[in-house]
Amino acid sequence: MYKVIHISDTHLRESNLGSLVGWTKAIRAIAATQPDLVIHTGDIVLDEPDNATDHAFARNELANLAVEWLVIPGNHDIGDGPPRQESICSDLIHRFADTYGATHWTKDIGHWLVIGVNAMLFGLGTAQEDEEWAWLEKALSTASGKPVALFMHKPPFVTTPDDVEHGSAAIPPASRGHLWALVRRYGVQVIACGHRHEYRVLHRDGVTIVWAPTTSDQLDELTSPINDPIPLPGLVEMIFHEDTFIHRFVPFYNRTAND
Ligand SMILES: [Fe+2]
Ligand SMILES: [Fe+2]
Repeated sequence: MYKVIHISDTHLRESNLGSLVGWTKAIRAIAATQPDLVIHTGDIVLDEPDNATDHAFARNELANLAVEWLVIPGNHDIGDGPPRQESICSDLIHRFADTYGATHWTKDIGHWLVIGVNAMLFGLGTAQEDEEWAWLEKALSTASGKPVALFMHKPPFVTTPDDVEHGSAAIPPASRGHLWALVRRYGVQVIACGHRHEYRVLHRDGVTIVWAPTTSDQLDELTSPINDPIPLPGLVEMIFHEDTFIHRFVPFYNRTAND
């Protein structure tokens, strides 16, 4: 058995109480759960990708966790891709890697292979995007029959792989077909993502897609075009057994600072 705590969208800034209250709860939940690994699927800092002070604070907070952790970048960490095309650039990507160790990674957790991909590059039409797709396919090919859990910031889609809309809620529509072909070809069984700030589970083509909620108080992105969101911050506990995967949503019900 291998236990992962999946957190996302912490949106940290040292002076921002709305994110620090939830972050404190996340730290407590991680300590109580004692996972083998913590994975953060991005939007680590509040809202300024080029704010070095925020990144230094967030890096220090992660370093204080008494457990191994891995992160991948979100749009608030390195800028956004299409359709917003805000500020994603090589400099921010390199700064992210320098601060947190990497922008993508693989980890063998026994019976499973876990991959974190910088899906913020998808749809950019740059050489860096081409390199990321090549890296992902090479990483997937090393699974050698193991089930794969793929972590990324934005969901692969909001409703189905052939979604053509939903703006910046998921990876760009033009990238969904390519990603889904790789997912099917290499036996990805789990996709874990964040970005939408809500917990949700979808099952498509035998793949379980888990959206981790935000740990912060930022629940305002909930949630068109699909209904009935769970309007709570929290995190996700994942258990990887030999050939099965289970998870549970750990909500933060009371968002006061003193509980
Ligand atoms: Fe976010
Ligand atoms: Fe995001």
